[in-house]
Amino acid sequence: MTTDVTLRDVIDEDLPIFFDLLADPLARHMAAFVAKDPADRAAFDRHWAKIVADSSVVKRSVLVEGRLAGQVLSYEAAGERSVCYWFAREHWAKGVATRALAAFLAEDRARPLHARAARDNGASIRVLEKCGFVIAGQDRAFANARGAEIEEVIMVLT
Ligand SMILES: CC(C)(COP(=O)(O)OP(=O)(O)OC[C@H]1O[C@@H](n2cnc3c(N)ncnc32)[C@H](O)[C@@H]1OP(=O)(O)O)[C@@H](O)C(=O)NCCC(=O)NCCS
Repeated sequence: MTTDVTLRDVIDEDLPIFFDLLADPLARHMAAFVAKDPADRAAFDRHWAKIVADSSVVKRSVLVEGRLAGQVLSYEAAGERSVCYWFAREHWAKGVATRALAAFLAEDRARPLHARAARDNGASIRVLEKCGFVIAGQDRAFANARGAEIEEVIMVLT
């Protein structure tokens, strides 16, 4: 069975659903480099107000069979353009992230495009590899979800 995966612009009604998605403890552990307090709605709202106002951030909601399932964003930071993504747990391990990222990369043609993943986030590294990213380096940084400095992999799509 082929799952229908589509992208559309982020709308205000998506934001409360994103807030819940981003609070999933297992997803936070995987992503590692996340906001400090997943229950802080005011901090989430401030962060998203900046994202919405910044036209250089490419932001897309991902729908699976017409239902909101996640997000993909690309943004500029420290002179580099990077991509990040997040999906609801019920959609994991079905190829949704790979298809959503591939669709996003067909829309956002900015290259090079970077991505960072905790070294132990094997699923995310695999998704990036399947979409053409290669490992370009490594780093160590403090990860809020782990309460410790951990290793991360830097990947790039040229
Ligand atoms: C990471 C995440 C995006 C993966 O989404 P997904 O829809 O399950 O990904 P897909 O099904 O498209 O692909 C997953 C791939 O990783 C592989 N995989 C899964 N767990 C793995 C692991 N521990 N180690 C290595 N590969 C793994 C799968 O086998 C699959 O590869 P395959 O198609 O070659 O078999 C999703 O789990 C998520 O949103 N997690 C929380 C947020 C997050 O980590 N975001 C990324 C921050 S860098």
